[in-house]
Order: sequence, then C-alpha cells, then structure tokens
Amino acid sequence: MADKPVIISDENSGKQLELPVVRGTAGEPTLSIKSLPKELGYFTYDPGFTATASCSSAITFIDGGQGILRHRGYPIEQLAKQSSFLEVAYLLLKGDLPKASEYAEFERDITYHTMVHEKLNTFISGFHYDAHPMAMMAGAVGSLAAFYHDRLDMNDPEHRMLAAKRMIAKMPTIAAACYRHHMGWPSAYPKNRLSYTERFLDMMFSVPAEDYEVSEVAARAFDLLFICHADHEQNASTSTVRLVGSTGANPYAAVSAGISALWGPAHGGANEAVLNMLEEIGDVSKVPQFIQRAKDRNDPFRLMGFGHRVYKNYDPRASIIREAAHEVLADLGTSDPLMDLAMELEQIALKDEYFVEKRLYPNVDFYSGIIYKALGIPTSMFTVMFAIARTVGWVSHWLEHCENPTPIGRPRQVYTGPAERDYVALKDRG
Ligand code: ACO
Repeated sequence: MADKPVIISDENSGKQLELPVVRGTAGEPTLSIKSLPKELGYFTYDPGFTATASCSSAITFIDGGQGILRHRGYPIEQLAKQSSFLEVAYLLLKGDLPKASEYAEFERDITYHTMVHEKLNTFISGFHYDAHPMAMMAGAVGSLAAFYHDRLDMNDPEHRMLAAKRMIAKMPTIAAACYRHHMGWPSAYPKNRLSYTERFLDMMFSVPAEDYEVSEVAARAFDLLFICHADHEQNASTSTVRLVGSTGANPYAAVSAGISALWGPAHGGANEAVLNMLEEIGDVSKVPQFIQRAKDRNDPFRLMGFGHRVYKNYDPRASIIREAAHEVLADLGTSDPLMDLAMELEQIALKDEYFVEKRLYPNVDFYSGIIYKALGIPTSMFTVMFAIARTVGWVSHWLEHCENPTPIGRPRQVYTGPAERDYVALKDRG
C-alpha cells in the first residue's frame, strides 16, 4: 500500500501542503520537498546533509542501525568471502554478477587499460619527492583528461564505460608510480599475466636489482580490503564525484575531486590517522588517558577509526577487516603490538558510557591500517589504497548519474552576513 502524503501546515501563511513520501526498495521513507519553495516559499536547512537524500540510487544499501551493507542486493559478508574485487567492480558498474564469459571480457578490458601514457610519468616526476601521495594522486588523475580526451563524449554510453574502465585500470599504476617517485625507484610497468592486486603489488615493490614474487597472502588481503572499500553509497567523496559530474565535467576531473574529498581525516584519511594515533598511544597503559581525551569536549582529539555518520552499530566492514588482520598476521607469522593496542582500545571504548550512548563503533578504517602496515605499505599511502578501491564506487555512481541525471547540484544557504549597506569611499572610512 502506498504511503499517505505528509501534510504540513504553515501557521504563518495559513497554507497547507501535501508532501509525497518517496520509498525505495529498502530503507527509511523519505519526504519529497521539491514543491516547498514554490508552494510555501521555504527552503530546508540541513547543514552536512544529515537528513537529506541527494539522489536515488540502485547501487548500494546501508542500514546503519542494524549494521547492514549490501551492494546491488548482495551482503558485504558474502562478497568478502566468496567474490573478488574485480567481480565486485563489475557488479557495482553493471548491476549484476557477471557470467563467466562476461567476467573474462571485463578482466581482459581492465588488464589492457592498465598502462598509462609515458608522459604521465614525466608529470608525476615533476612533484617533489616528499609530496604527499594523495596530492600527487589528485593531480595525476585530474590530468588524465589531458591524456585521454580522444573518447570523452559524456553523451556516448561507450565512451562513458571506457572512461570508467580506464580509471579502474590505471589507478593502481598511478598509485604505484607516486610511491616509486617518492622512493626514487625507476618506473614499473603493469604485467598482464598477473591479477589486479598481484599486478599492483608487483608495481609497488619490484625493483630491477632483484626478482620479486608477489605473496599470495598479500594479494588475497588486498583483494579483500579493496572489496570492503569499493563503495559506500553517498559518502562525502562519492557525493563530491556526483556533484562535479552534475556540472557535465569529465569523469577524470570528478574522480580527482573525489580523491581530494577522501583525503580528509574525517573520511578516508582516517586510516592513516588511526595508525598515527596508535603509534602516539604507544602502550596499552596509555589507552584510558586517550579515551579520556576523546571524551573531553574541550579537546579536539577524536578516537580515529571510531564513529560513522550512518552506522550507529558495528560497521560490518570493520568486523571483516578485524578478522582478516588476525589472519594476515598469523599467515605472515608475525605479530604487531599495534593490533593488541587497537583491540584493547576497542574493548574499553565499547564499554565506555560516552561511546555507548553516542553509538560510536569501530569503522572500516580502524583495522585496515594494521594489515597495510604488515604488508609493507607506508602510512602515507594508506588513503591511496582506499582511493584505488573506491574508484569503482565513484565511477559507478558517476555512470548512474549520467544515465539518469539530476539537475546540477546546487544547495541553497541561510545567509547570515550583513544586511544591505552602502559603499563608503576609502578616504571616508575613518
Ligand atoms: N571520538 C570521540 N567522539 C566522537 C567521535 C570519535 N571518533 N566521533 C563522534 N564523536 C562524538 C562527537 O563529538 C559528537 O558529540 P556531541 O554530540 O557531544 O557533540 C557525537 O559523537 C556525534 O558526532 P558527529 O561528529 O556529530 O557525527 P558525524 O556523523 O557528523 O561524524 C564522523 C561522523 C566524522 C565519522 C565522526 O564520527 C569522526 O570524526 N570519527 C573519527 C574519524 C573517522 O574515523 N572517520 C572515518 C569515517 S569512515 C569513512 O569515512 C571511510
């Protein structure tokens, strides 16, 4: 049965307005407020979009209260256990799991687009060696439009899909190139015989002087982490990509903006911040002191990797990644005191009244850095790993937007500046 509209009465004007209730296939009912400005003369005020749906989307569903995440209907737990990153990429982009022949074609397409124009390496080598890799990534990805403008007609579905595949394919190559530039190593080229994550690890760590064999444990762990980071509906970076895309800008520009949005510590930059925080805490005995700081309103310190705008329950990706962190450390036959510290921090926080009351739980970033560290990824590259995986989500949302465009994203504001006043000449300003 269809929902009845919600009637709002405006006591200022004496008017009433019926607002239709919009329902998706799952999730909360949503009020359509499009007619509000025209009928009653009001805009709505929702800083940070805490209560606003910016679009409709068929890609990812989250129930934050219950800790549910599904891509195209499939629970993240099943995808993490049974699928692969490239298969999830296909699912997100195209809407369904591929048949064997479709998967083979998709994998071949991605594999054959992994090389970047040689001049892009010249571009990257122009950065100072100690530039933050996220700054290099935003610049290098934004510059792709200058290299691949041959087929960039946004009204052509084939051009759009090509741009999407190019981005998924080239992102690991660019990420590895940024790292190698920082290290002062010569370029490494993608090897077609390797899988997506093996190829990336090979480009990251192989050096001309030695043979490099990609560790199976590492390739599997990356595949899992990439699945967990692939998409998360209208998060800040994806909303940024959609917003930029709504202007008709090319997808490389939109994804470059997404990378910049992801970099912030309140978003994807949290994985780097978690590791820095754990290192700063240093010892289990200091955990209570940091918990105390996180609770102090006068201290800007927050427990990084904790809390989420949508999840008010355990982030399902955090459970998957915590388990994987244990497995990776065991497979590598090592331990990491930071893992013990993280678990102790989690245990204390989950029992603390402040965190319980505010429903703050570990998020996807709390344990991912421990795996990256164990696999030799430097802290400054953690958010780049996130960006490689999230590219799949960004381009899937960009494609969805192109297929079913919303008007240009253009929020309104509540103006709080001075009322109208007259210009005073410089000589008369006292
Ligand atoms: N540590 C301590 N207190 C916290 C934390 C935290 N990590 N997160 C939220 N709170 C508190 C806030 O101080 C606020 O308290 P108040 O109501 O007394 O003012 C309350 O919980 C609600 O927090 P908000 O910031 O209003 O919640 P919001 O939904 O806007 O923010 C966010 C979510 C940005 C993720 C926040 O929890 C945070 O900063 N976490 C740490 C950074 C982090 O891990 N980010 C990664 C998120 S996952 C991702 O983007 C991939």
